[in-house]
Amino acid sequence: MKIGIVVYSQTGNTYEVAQKLEEALSKKGNSVKIERIHVADEKQRDLNKIQMLSIPDLSTYDALVFGSPVHAFSLSHPMTAFMSQIPTLQDKKITCFVTKGLPLNGTGGNQAIGVMKKICESKGGDVCGSGIIVWKKDREKQISKISEEFSKMF
Ligand SMILES: Cc1cc2nc3c(=O)[nH]c(=O)nc-3n(C[C@H](O)[C@H](O)[C@H](O)COP(=O)(O)O)c2cc1C
Repeated sequence: MKIGIVVYSQTGNTYEVAQKLEEALSKKGNSVKIERIHVADEKQRDLNKIQMLSIPDLSTYDALVFGSPVHAFSLSHPMTAFMSQIPTLQDKKITCFVTKGLPLNGTGGNQAIGVMKKICESKGGDVCGSGIIVWKKDREKQISKISEEFSKMF
């Protein structure tokens, strides 16, 4: 299966997870590419003013993994802006993940995943899995768990 891992990462954590997923999904015989989203101004808080430096073409992928950090108890604005402008996700198998710093429930993980799912479903995508990585000591275990889960979805 041809899989695109579409990731936004401000300080590198989410990108690190994307690289590990790329390795795990490739080992299962998939053709996997990371598409990293970059924005002109990381500090721009107005969703309508966010400028993408490049917009990857997702139409050639059978399946997509979206990854983003949690910002301000929800999905980061660059990822929200990017996902919102995707023309269609019809017939794509999709999984989503977020990374976050705060270990407690109610600090944005489920909220961010909820936003990702809503956008994907509004564009016809089939969201078949999701995961939240809390950036603490045991994160390698969490990353292995979602790698295994996502590998089974595709
Ligand atoms: C502006 C900003 C807001 C953040 N807000 C939250 C938050 O609401 N909840 C949380 O758990 N972590 C929050 N974090 C922590 C990040 O989600 C966490 O460090 C994440 O792994 C960073 O991913 P990245 O290195 O890919 O950018 C925030 C970080 C930044 C810089």
